[in-house]
Amino acid sequence: MSSRSDHGIRMSGQAQRKPRPRALTSLPDGLEHYELRRELRPDPDLPTLWHHAVVVDENFIPVRAESSPPAYDPIRTEDLLGLAGPIELEIGCGKGRFLSEYAQLHPDRPLLGLEWTRPIAWYAAEKISRRPSLQHAKVIWADAPYFLRDRMPSQSVSAFHIYFPDPWPKEKAKKRRLLQAPLLAQMRRLAVEGCLFYWGTDYAEYDQYARRLLGQTEGFALVNTNPGPTEGLMTSFERKYVDEGRPIYRSIWSVEPLVSA
Ligand SMILES: C[S@@+](CC[C@H](N)C(=O)[O-])C[C@H]1O[C@@H](n2cnc3c(N)ncnc32)[C@H](O)[C@@H]1O
Repeated sequence: MSSRSDHGIRMSGQAQRKPRPRALTSLPDGLEHYELRRELRPDPDLPTLWHHAVVVDENFIPVRAESSPPAYDPIRTEDLLGLAGPIELEIGCGKGRFLSEYAQLHPDRPLLGLEWTRPIAWYAAEKISRRPSLQHAKVIWADAPYFLRDRMPSQSVSAFHIYFPDPWPKEKAKKRRLLQAPLLAQMRRLAVEGCLFYWGTDYAEYDQYARRLLGQTEGFALVNTNPGPTEGLMTSFERKYVDEGRPIYRSIWSVEPLVSA
C-alpha cells in the first residue's frame, strides 16, 4: 500500500509512519534562499488532476533545484487539455465551482484551474472528472507563480481569472498576496492578443492595492471598472459573501502581450 505526503509524493513502508509536514510555509535553515525542485505529473487516480509539486526527500525535506531557477519546461497545452488554441486560466480556483460552470458554457475553450491546497485541488478535479462533457478542463495542484514561470508557454493564454484571493490583510503578510509584480510579468508573457484579466475580491483594501498595482504596470489597462460576475457565474466565496451582505469589487483589465524584440 502506498500513500502521499502533503506534497503529493508517493511513499511506502517506513516513510508512511513518519509525521506528515504541514503545508510548506517554512523551510529548514539554509533552504530559504534556494529554489526548490518541483515536478509536473498526472495524478494516477484522477485524470483531471495534475501535480506541480515540490519534491521532498525521505525525511520530508524539500529538494533544492540543481540550478536556480529550475529549467523552463513548457507544457503542450493541447496535449494536456485535448483542445488547440489559447487557454483560459483560473488562479486559485478553490473547489472549482466557477471553473466547472464556465467550462460547461464553453466546450470549445481549453481551461486550467490552479489551486495550491491539495485536498481542495482534488475536490475540484474530482467534480470535473465526473462530467464527461468537461474533459477540456483540468486542475493543477500548484503554487501558481512558479507554475506560470516554469511550465506555461509564452503567448498561450486568452484570459486570466482571479476571484476572491486570500487577502492577507496584516501589513507584514501582504507580501504573501497572489497579485505581485512577478505574477503580472508572467501574465504579460503568457498573454495572447486580446487577453483579458478578470479580477474580483470582497476586500476593499486589496481591491485598491490591485487597482494601484495594475494601473502602474505597463501592459495592463482597465476596460471595465465595475462588472457583474463573469457571465453571471458567482464563485463559491462570492455566494457566501453576497449572502453576508458584503460589497464585491470586480474589474476587468486588458493584458497586452509582451512582444520580445
Ligand atoms: C479564498 S479562496 C477563493 C476560491 C475561489 N476563487 C472562490 O472564489 O470561491 C482562495 C484560493 O486560492 C488558493 N491559492 C492561494 N494562493 C495560491 C497560489 N499561490 N497558487 C494557487 N492557488 C492559490 C487557495 O488555496 C484558496 O483555495
